[in-house]
Amino acid sequence: MNKRSVIGTPLSSSATKVMLLGSGELGKEVIIALQRLGVETIAVDRYANAPGHQVAHRAHVINMADSQALRALIEQEQPDIIVPEIEAIATDRLVEIEQMGMAKVIPTARAAKLTMNREGIRCLAAETLGLPTSPYAFANSLDELRAAIDGKIGYPCIVKPVMSSSGKGQSRIDHAGEVEVAWDYAASGSRVNQGRVIVEGVIHFDYEITQLTVRALDTNGDVKTHFCEPIGHVQVHGDYVESWQPQVMSPVALERVREIARKITDNLGGLGIFGVELFIKGDQVWFSEVSPRPHDTGMVTMCSQRQSEFDLHARAILGLPVDTSLHAPGASAVIYGQLEAKGIAFSGVVEALSVPQSDLRLFGKPESFMRRRMGVALANGADTDEARSRAKLAASRIKPIQE
Ligand SMILES: Nc1ncnc2c1ncn2[C@@H]1O[C@H](COP(=O)(O)OP(=O)(O)O)[C@@H](O)[C@H]1O
Ligand SMILES: [Mg+2]
Repeated sequence: MNKRSVIGTPLSSSATKVMLLGSGELGKEVIIALQRLGVETIAVDRYANAPGHQVAHRAHVINMADSQALRALIEQEQPDIIVPEIEAIATDRLVEIEQMGMAKVIPTARAAKLTMNREGIRCLAAETLGLPTSPYAFANSLDELRAAIDGKIGYPCIVKPVMSSSGKGQSRIDHAGEVEVAWDYAASGSRVNQGRVIVEGVIHFDYEITQLTVRALDTNGDVKTHFCEPIGHVQVHGDYVESWQPQVMSPVALERVREIARKITDNLGGLGIFGVELFIKGDQVWFSEVSPRPHDTGMVTMCSQRQSEFDLHARAILGLPVDTSLHAPGASAVIYGQLEAKGIAFSGVVEALSVPQSDLRLFGKPESFMRRRMGVALANGADTDEARSRAKLAASRIKPIQE
């Protein structure tokens, strides 16, 4: 019997155990996909009652950047597979755990380590693999930042902490008078390692996409690369607000996208889904960044694909076959908290779900902030224009309230 075609019984000695490091809305959906396949799931996050905690067999609250705490929990739970869902993890510990053969890390511990820091992945992409990227430089101080902009990058440019996500600490600067504010903002928005930034020249793209790319085993046990249809999206302050699939592209640009996606994912290796972010102008394509995990803009696949990005990730990491085909044009629109409060309620659900071909995900986050992503509206349509307007309409009808 081929080992990878065996799935045990949860909560028994035969269980196939998967631990999610990070249990937000993306982890929650991965857990649901795994649960459906009879996998035992362990959800880990830094705060109690995180979305994924609510659907897993067991939930733990630890600081995942704490190497000791991470190791202790892995020894206690003994998962077969560890799935990083966030970037802020003690990735050196994952490297060690993988080397000792204690668990399989998805896609690989090296990929988790490289992508946790913008510097690691940018240098790999631009310098090792020679992929086209925006011009960039790194700086450790305000003076170094000024020197990098004056000497190489120019204006306009974008400053980002090397360790941050969802646009945190990121700002665009158009002239010298804004550099200090951008530097201070980056230092405050950085998760760790305060005071190192990347500065990138602005790419004046026509549109940007996420190329979801899946590395999965075929029936012979060889790794095959599968591409989903490209996902278009709109970002505000570096955070996604709307996405749709398929994004129409020129054949030349699409071919370049897939060549880049294949190169970077081949190098990162392992099994699972990757969100490769790219900028497009005409037939020109730039690599921006990659997440070795489901991507927030990929939430649209819950309505647009036969197998969502979460189903694909679950199947790929278990060594199972995948199908990346499109089911129907679709769109997603983010629902923000719009309030600062705990235990909020959502009104307008009836009105939202009255929109034709719409659906809703409310993540169940215990605390709302003004710009915290609390849910997403999904919709299908005859084309992505119709799907987008339906998803936006449904999202706009949800009103967060304080009970
Ligand atoms: N060099 C750039 N040129 C143009 N737009 C950019 C550039 N870098 C970032 N952006 C915009 O900001 C968004 C977020 O940046 P990104 O590097 O993906 O940060 P994060 O890791 O927080 O998602 C991008 O999706 C894009 O819209
Ligand atoms: Mg991004």
